[in-house]
Amino acid sequence: MLLAALGTDCRDPSLRSGWQRANPYTAEKMVYLTRRYRFCASHRLHNEALTDEANLRIYGKCDSPFGHGHNYVLEVTVQGPIDQETGMVFDLVALDGIVAKEVLERFDYTNLNLDGEDFRSRVPTTENVCERIFQLLEVKLAQGGPLHAAGLARVRLEETSSNFFEYEGERGASGPM
Ligand code: NI
Repeated sequence: MLLAALGTDCRDPSLRSGWQRANPYTAEKMVYLTRRYRFCASHRLHNEALTDEANLRIYGKCDSPFGHGHNYVLEVTVQGPIDQETGMVFDLVALDGIVAKEVLERFDYTNLNLDGEDFRSRVPTTENVCERIFQLLEVKLAQGGPLHAAGLARVRLEETSSNFFEYEGERGASGPM
């Protein structure tokens, strides 16, 4: 009986609209746009501050000095209001240009450990790569696009078909606002 009563309450239009008024995202009609990209890169999981034995214990075969590669799948999510004039959240051509310049040209067909400065002093685990990509994009997307006001909400980086990592910036660490 209790469950039935709750079910009825949840469908009560007056309660639902009350919740929507209290939710800032709903009130501003925030929409999330996710765009998918791909890049290939190699890495070796090895921390110079640790002994060889410790590296082998922690990273296993990923510590191989010859490295190994991944076909990364990157998903970039921006959030923003629907622009009244265009009906869009963000200009996809602009987003593609930013991701190509800041991420794909930087990492595609590279050795993450040795090419560039991003992982000279950090182990290029996919967790760290995901966070770095967020940092690179957050700066460029902070001002929105040429037509739209969306900002970066999330980066999702798929390392294999079995595992992926997501980062939402420092906002994500404090939970929903
Ligand atoms: Ni790997």
